[in-house]
Amino acid sequence: MTTPEPSQAATPPPIVEARQVTVRFGTFTALIDVSFASPRVAGHGEFITIIGPSGCGKSTLLNLIAGFLRPTEGEILVKGSPALRPGRDRGMIFQQYSSFPHLTVRQNVLFGLEINRKELKIDAAARLAKAENLIEQVGLAPHRDKYPHQLSGGQQQRVAIARSLAMEPQILLMDEPFSALDEPTRLEMQELLVELWNRIHPTIFCVTHSVSEAVYLAERVWIFTQAPGQIAYDIRDAIPPSAGIPPLVAQERAEFKEAVFVVTEAFRRVSNGIKNSNSGLIRPQQQARP
Ligand SMILES: Nc1ncnc2c1ncn2[C@@H]1O[C@H](COP(=O)(O)OP(=O)(O)O)[C@@H](O)[C@H]1O
Ligand SMILES: [Mg+2]
Repeated sequence: MTTPEPSQAATPPPIVEARQVTVRFGTFTALIDVSFASPRVAGHGEFITIIGPSGCGKSTLLNLIAGFLRPTEGEILVKGSPALRPGRDRGMIFQQYSSFPHLTVRQNVLFGLEINRKELKIDAAARLAKAENLIEQVGLAPHRDKYPHQLSGGQQQRVAIARSLAMEPQILLMDEPFSALDEPTRLEMQELLVELWNRIHPTIFCVTHSVSEAVYLAERVWIFTQAPGQIAYDIRDAIPPSAGIPPLVAQERAEFKEAVFVVTEAFRRVSNGIKNSNSGLIRPQQQARP
């Protein structure tokens, strides 16, 4: 019925694609037959948040995309090539602060630029300018000469974000990045992240255990089944845009509340062992297979 588009041959591969990925640790299956594709259209990557029961393979999926781990079966492709090792095109941000304790904010942000200076081909002045610019962008200018122990948790996560962005990764992998922060700081960080994504548009995969955080941050929310993990729900249409709207304001909107309801309901089903259903509220995952 459908004729292929003439431009199809020129379409770039998805920035990240999983093809029937299974991961086993010994006899334990962490992920089973996971397939998805995340396109990058006109330089714009998607913002995907991932929620699901503890131990369902969320961190495992990020580790696969990062190239820290390989699938037992299937393939993870980054820009069409298997993700066999980490690369500068992928940045990882963890819940635990990952800055160097003996370096100041500025030195931490400069670090990756310094060690990659030959490949990046940017001179010392340009490296410094870039680091200073990122420090401004994440709101750390008054703290640039401080050491990590002199910063709050939120400020330390700002350093981690600036350090990652310095390498201009096309893909940002975030594993519960704000879970250790108090609520006001968490909301500030959510707003900052949405703002940065709207400006720079990396593809972001962000694991969170908060439904409202998942809905606020993303344009696409995945809900994983219990282990062995699979994407039970891939929710896009219900997610309202949040750019330029502070979280507390966004959360008061009817469409936000509706989205939180939809996602919470799906999460509840998954937690009860129901993989997905045709409730009319939620669209079950569309497997992205050729
Ligand atoms: N290197 C490993 N060796 C053995 N088991 C692992 C390893 N990494 C993860 N697992 C197990 O796989 C499951 C999924 O882990 P993980 O991806 O960390 O879950 P989560 O969804 O909570 O992030 C867990 O049961 C975990 O104990
Ligand atoms: Mg995890």
